[in-house]
Amino acid sequence: MLTTQDAAKKGFVWLVGAGPGAADLITLRGLKLLQGAEAVVYDELANGDLLQNCPAGCELHAVGKRAGKHSATQGEINALLVSLGSAGKKVVRLKGGDPLVFGRAGEEIEALRAAGLSFEIVPGVTAATASAAALGLPLTHRDFSSAVVFVTGHQCAANTDALDWGALARLRATLCFYMGVRRLPEIAHNLLHHGMAAAMPLALISEATRSTQKITITTLGEAERMAPEEIVQPALVVIGEVVRLADFADRVPGMVAKAAG
Ligand SMILES: C[S@@+](CC[C@H](N)C(=O)[O-])C[C@H]1O[C@@H](n2cnc3c(N)ncnc32)[C@H](O)[C@@H]1O
Repeated sequence: MLTTQDAAKKGFVWLVGAGPGAADLITLRGLKLLQGAEAVVYDELANGDLLQNCPAGCELHAVGKRAGKHSATQGEINALLVSLGSAGKKVVRLKGGDPLVFGRAGEEIEALRAAGLSFEIVPGVTAATASAAALGLPLTHRDFSSAVVFVTGHQCAANTDALDWGALARLRATLCFYMGVRRLPEIAHNLLHHGMAAAMPLALISEATRSTQKITITTLGEAERMAPEEIVQPALVVIGEVVRLADFADRVPGMVAKAAG
């Protein structure tokens, strides 16, 4: 049983969204928590400049989490959070984008709850809304799109049944594929196979909100033939009629754009 004395000794863990890339897209609350943190456990997707806000003496733990690079396992990250929290520290778990969107926050929350640790979630700007802003388009539009779907592209090949491609293809929605770059040809193939038009506009946004941001506008038909290894990651794939509304030519330096076909 947890006594009052034990509870006082326990720390607190905040799962903080770092935002999509630009350091000033973190929330004020997230920033204040970093400024008072005693330990920070951060993903590679979180902008490293944010760590400059941590006080002297704050423990910094990099845990990786980027496609194709070495990372701590989720079990190791959970154990680290529990150990830092149990040692009575104020811990910030800094995660790219929003912690609750494809961030495995569920597993971290479960571990914290099991350890009897207090925690709070601080939302962040997720890659889909950051990418839409970069493109200058709305994710929903009364004429083109009545829903927006956040989809993981991760499972496409491993488990083709994991996604209902027919439903995705039929929805009058904007589809935002996270972790979809490596599987882009398969994603396009599956949607085409289920009846989505080859001329459906598709946008690829690499490193949204960073100075290296790059946008490519193409079509679903062309995406099926694209070489994923040529796309800079992290990147988001946005598919839907709203992509026709992208108005970026005069505001995105270095973009590579093609007219939607
Ligand atoms: C593990 S998920 C994490 C998502 C994150 N929790 C969020 O809310 O944005 C990683 C994927 O998010 C997308 N992503 C993250 N940051 C991005 C950025 N700055 N530009 C484009 N896509 C990004 C990419 O699809 C990447 O593969």
